[in-house]
Amino acid sequence: MVGKIGIIGGGNIGGVCAAEIASRRLARRVALVDVKPPEFARGKCLDIAEGTPVIGTDTVLEGSKGYEVLAGADFVINTAGVPRAMRADGTFPSREELLATNLRITDAVAAGIRQYCPDAFVVSIANPLDAIVYRLHQQLKDRLPVRKLMGMAGVLDSARYKYFVAQAAGVSVENVEAVVLGGHGDTMVPIRSACRIYGLPVTKFIDEDELAAIEDRVRKAGGEVVSLLGSGSAFVSPAWSALEMITSIAFDKKKITSVCAHLDGEYGVTGLFVGVPAILGREGVEKIIEIDLSDEERTALANSVAAVSRTCAEVDKVGK
Ligand code: LAC
Repeated sequence: MVGKIGIIGGGNIGGVCAAEIASRRLARRVALVDVKPPEFARGKCLDIAEGTPVIGTDTVLEGSKGYEVLAGADFVINTAGVPRAMRADGTFPSREELLATNLRITDAVAAGIRQYCPDAFVVSIANPLDAIVYRLHQQLKDRLPVRKLMGMAGVLDSARYKYFVAQAAGVSVENVEAVVLGGHGDTMVPIRSACRIYGLPVTKFIDEDELAAIEDRVRKAGGEVVSLLGSGSAFVSPAWSALEMITSIAFDKKKITSVCAHLDGEYGVTGLFVGVPAILGREGVEKIIEIDLSDEERTALANSVAAVSRTCAEVDKVGK
């Protein structure tokens, strides 16, 4: 069991994370930070805490407007930021359009982590995902090794790919292996050559046209949920995905997991955080796995990395 998991941002994703950590008995303590008045984080924690006798868990939950509750956290999940929401005209912003607002929030998050839990593993979910992780690195690089800082996107994007493939093939989601690489934006790259059903190539089960439509849906899947919900974005699946990463690290499972990780030459990329498969174990991101890609996939990945790089250039302009 983990000692303490801190959650920054008590919105929908943070709330599901807190409830799931308690119900799975994943950590002894949960600390939730949210600045929202009057005492939103305390209210959220009290609600879950009052349910703990019902499910029989002794997880201790503490909410606060301040970061001091994070002291001693082994892991921090960063969800702080405004989510994508539908506009009055029915359109919704891209994840990148959230950048300016969420960068300001991220700088406060970084300061809180530095002050109260600089030794924690940090799993960030706020959007635009890859650029926010890049910013956290800029702010914390003297203190937080890159193996302990990662973004949650690939678990979710791969899960969406698996789900759509399982539905189309009429098989269990447990039979599907799928990988999505690149940035967590509309340029993300579902890797068809690595998609397997019961160890067999996916093309044995689903024809190429249907696969192309599935892959297009994967790229736009976050937006699909935003437009259906009408307010806010997906929250249960992102929360479960972040806990999947923490579980692999906490129990030293060494699970190969798609994660937004710092690249130092892998996939020909240096200095950016991009979605790649990596072994997650007690050291955090222990090893990045380079998989063979088709020419088309390699080109699509380069295109996605270029998009991440452009957003990070915007981050650089904002200064520190
Ligand atoms: C999504 C958000 C969480 O993809 O980025 O649904």
